[in-house]
Amino acid sequence: MSLLEVNGLNSHYGDSHILFDVGLRVEKNEVVALLGRNGAGKSTTLKSLMGVVTPTSGSVVLDGVELAGRKSHAVARAGMQLVHEERRIFASLNVEENLVLAGLTAPNKWPLERIYEMFPRLKERRGSRGTDLSGGEQQMLAIGRALIRDPKIVLLDEPFEGLAPVIVRNLMDACRELAAAGQTIVLVEQNLAATLALAHRVYIINNGHIVHEGSAADLKRSPEILQRHLGV
Ligand SMILES: Nc1ncnc2c1ncn2[C@@H]1O[C@H](COP(=O)(O)OP(=O)(O)OP(=O)(O)O)[C@@H](O)[C@H]1O
Ligand SMILES: [Mg+2]
Repeated sequence: MSLLEVNGLNSHYGDSHILFDVGLRVEKNEVVALLGRNGAGKSTTLKSLMGVVTPTSGSVVLDGVELAGRKSHAVARAGMQLVHEERRIFASLNVEENLVLAGLTAPNKWPLERIYEMFPRLKERRGSRGTDLSGGEQQMLAIGRALIRDPKIVLLDEPFEGLAPVIVRNLMDACRELAAAGQTIVLVEQNLAATLALAHRVYIINNGHIVHEGSAADLKRSPEILQRHLGV
């Protein structure tokens, strides 16, 4: 059994049917990317896994435990963390307060020092409030807040979006380090080069349907697949 097994997942916003029988699996220690055009349903998929959006049908099994239909705090307790596109850090709290608060209810947690080793910049900025952080620092903090709970799987929604190339490289190194340490990751990214460099396996979603699954290495050799589904 895979660490994460998703089958027949359907999600709606009101009357709009967004996800159609989405199926995915993620092995322990694997980095899996979900690619797709704007509006394809990538964020909705991650939110449906996390219980931020309640799927209308289907199954989400993490480490043998059925999570579909549960609220996001229960999903978090079961070992999943979602780093939202919009980062959602507490602007009025400083870096360290944000980290401590995120870890409060976690059964296992990383020591603060381990987060600071991964992101030395956060240690330098530990006393700065959320509002005073750059975009890159906010993203580091958002990822740090997820990791401090020692999740079985972390879902990253466009972690590199809108950041300067030097910051993207910095964050990519951190992701690589995490993956090498065995962290299981689901990555949604528009940055194709970064995705193919980090991911072992890739799914492509189109209009709420999974239309391709394969290794990142195969995808690099098959530009026609990217052209067909992503228009790149
Ligand atoms: N809260 C919402 N209410 C209604 N429709 C929504 C809502 N959020 C997203 N949608 C619609 O659901 C579809 C999938 O959106 P989603 O955000 O999952 O796409 P995405 O692949 O993450 O796109 P992007 O690359 O722009 O982030 C889109 O048609 C979008 O307009
Ligand atoms: Mg999105």
